[in-house]
Amino acid sequence: MARRRQLYEGKAKILFEGPEPGTLVQYFKDDATAFNAQKKGTITGKGVLNNRISEYLMLRLGEIGIPTHFIRRLNMREQLIREVEIIPLEVVVRNIAAGSISQRLGIQEGTRLPRSIVEYYYKNDQLGDPLVCEEHITAFGWASTQDLDDMVGLALRVNDFLSGLFLGVGILLVDFKLEFGRLWENDEMRIVLADEISPDNCRLWDAKTGEKMDKDRFRRDLGRVEEGYQEVARRLGILPEAGVRDLKGPELMQ
Ligand SMILES: Nc1ncnc2c1ncn2[C@@H]1O[C@H](COP(=O)(O)OP(=O)(O)OP(=O)(O)O)[C@@H](O)[C@H]1O
Ligand SMILES: [Mg+2]
Repeated sequence: MARRRQLYEGKAKILFEGPEPGTLVQYFKDDATAFNAQKKGTITGKGVLNNRISEYLMLRLGEIGIPTHFIRRLNMREQLIREVEIIPLEVVVRNIAAGSISQRLGIQEGTRLPRSIVEYYYKNDQLGDPLVCEEHITAFGWASTQDLDDMVGLALRVNDFLSGLFLGVGILLVDFKLEFGRLWENDEMRIVLADEISPDNCRLWDAKTGEKMDKDRFRRDLGRVEEGYQEVARRLGILPEAGVRDLKGPELMQ
């Protein structure tokens, strides 16, 4: 088979040209970075788990009518996606205070927020992905008011659905980051969910013990990082013990 053309190598994934125009192959690496790539490492098996977890969550979201870039998983580390024009914003939804909101506003980590809060960060590594507001976004033309309305609407639906899905397997969805892109079909533009949804960009805490099961284990040197990611996959019923035939459904917690 001819080698595919590599289009972009990011911190966690590589993008290759897809088999048909308008498609890409997203390859999930084991590389991990934090604090705007000041901290670097690898988490063995992370790419395989994130590929599966993101596939599972994007499929479930698709089933409730959230448009996503996901087409299908190709193998352990790769998935076929629709190429979109990425909107240069990270859309963060928070349910419980943790990380930067706790530091910036002095809210103790673990405090349930009065309601779900949506934040935007400008995707720019050189600037350290700064927090921005609607005024910046529309004035600089990163997205229109309509685009933002669509993104917030989708982000809140994703939040409600994923909060319930995770709670069903004994996990609190503390916060998460989404990326969206523009997809054109016959002169019509749609905003679709892109990138990935995985423990790299969600905070996931065990509902009973509060134990962290996400990238904070790496960021904060908590140890047993691989196990955190594995446990998320196991609870979702997608941790293959002996290949794909071993897949089970979600294991509901009482
Ligand atoms: N459907 C898509 N079409 C085009 N680009 C995409 C799509 N989904 C995700 N991307 C982009 O692919 C890249 C994925 O690589 P990775 O997550 O490793 O990047 P990164 O190092 O986090 O860099 P970035 O700051 O650009 O996100 C990101 O730049 C992401 O915005
Ligand atoms: Mg990324």
